Amino acid sequence: MHLRISAIHIMFMEVMENISFSERFIERVKSATTVGVLTGAGMSAPSGVPTFRGKDGLWDKFNPQELANVDAFLNNPELVWEWYNWRRELIRKVKPNLGHYALVDVEGFFPDFALITQNVDNLHQLAGSRKVLELHGNIMRNKCLDCSRLFENEHIDQDNIPRCPDCNGMIRPDVVWFGELLPQDVIREAQEFSASADIFFAVGTSSTVEPAASLSYMAKGNGAYLIEINPEKTPLSDYADESIQTSVDLYLPQLVVELDKIMKR
Ligand code: OAD
Repeated sequence: MHLRISAIHIMFMEVMENISFSERFIERVKSATTVGVLTGAGMSAPSGVPTFRGKDGLWDKFNPQELANVDAFLNNPELVWEWYNWRRELIRKVKPNLGHYALVDVEGFFPDFALITQNVDNLHQLAGSRKVLELHGNIMRNKCLDCSRLFENEHIDQDNIPRCPDCNGMIRPDVVWFGELLPQDVIREAQEFSASADIFFAVGTSSTVEPAASLSYMAKGNGAYLIEINPEKTPLSDYADESIQTSVDLYLPQLVVELDKIMKR
């Protein structure tokens, strides 16, 4: 298998923090066929995308009530569009990090793999991940508020709220706002997958936003080996089989090298 991440990448990483993989984990990997990974905003933090919670998080500086719900959009669509255009510009300037590329490799090691993301930044897809379940939508896509028609990469003129050519409804970013349901087919698939996983990783998420947060509990509750990757403790940390307090771009590339070793044994 051709890997994007190699031991050479790791040797050249500026800060080298050696991750040790437990015997329990290695044993589980040997027999695993179904592997799920749930990612959150911490996944893209090393790329330069701000997270939502904590110091310097977006929700520390901005009020979600004014920007991320449908009433806010109906009351002041210009302001909401301005905020999303700012976030899009920020995201357009950044690149996937080594953690994103490592997950593309991880996908290749297991017959049944799903990457479930709360992120809307499209960086997993840009890195090359194939099976991505987008729980919260995608900021690079838009949809009609009334008829839900999707508009890929629609150019949005900040002075003019775009209108749907079919029904004249207002066009909005295709992201899940507070008070809205997640795309039901996507969350159902994510739940079914999590419940059948042999190994499940919760990566760079505060594990506080439902229904995404429950996927990790569902996975372990149905027998998966649960690993959390997060430099900070979260409500999931004590429940997980292993909680590894490090950054995604340090852990995931080393995971790829370890999986390669295990599979070659
Ligand atoms: P949060 O901002 O709540 O949490 C980000 C987590 O990433 C925190 O627990 C950080 O400690 C961790 N983190 C930061 N840097 C990291 C790194 N380099 N490596 C690993 N972990 C790191 O983001 P989410 O849990 O994704 O929803 O938040 C879930 C949802 O809340 C978002 O999708 C968004 C938000 O409201 C919607 O917009 C619908």
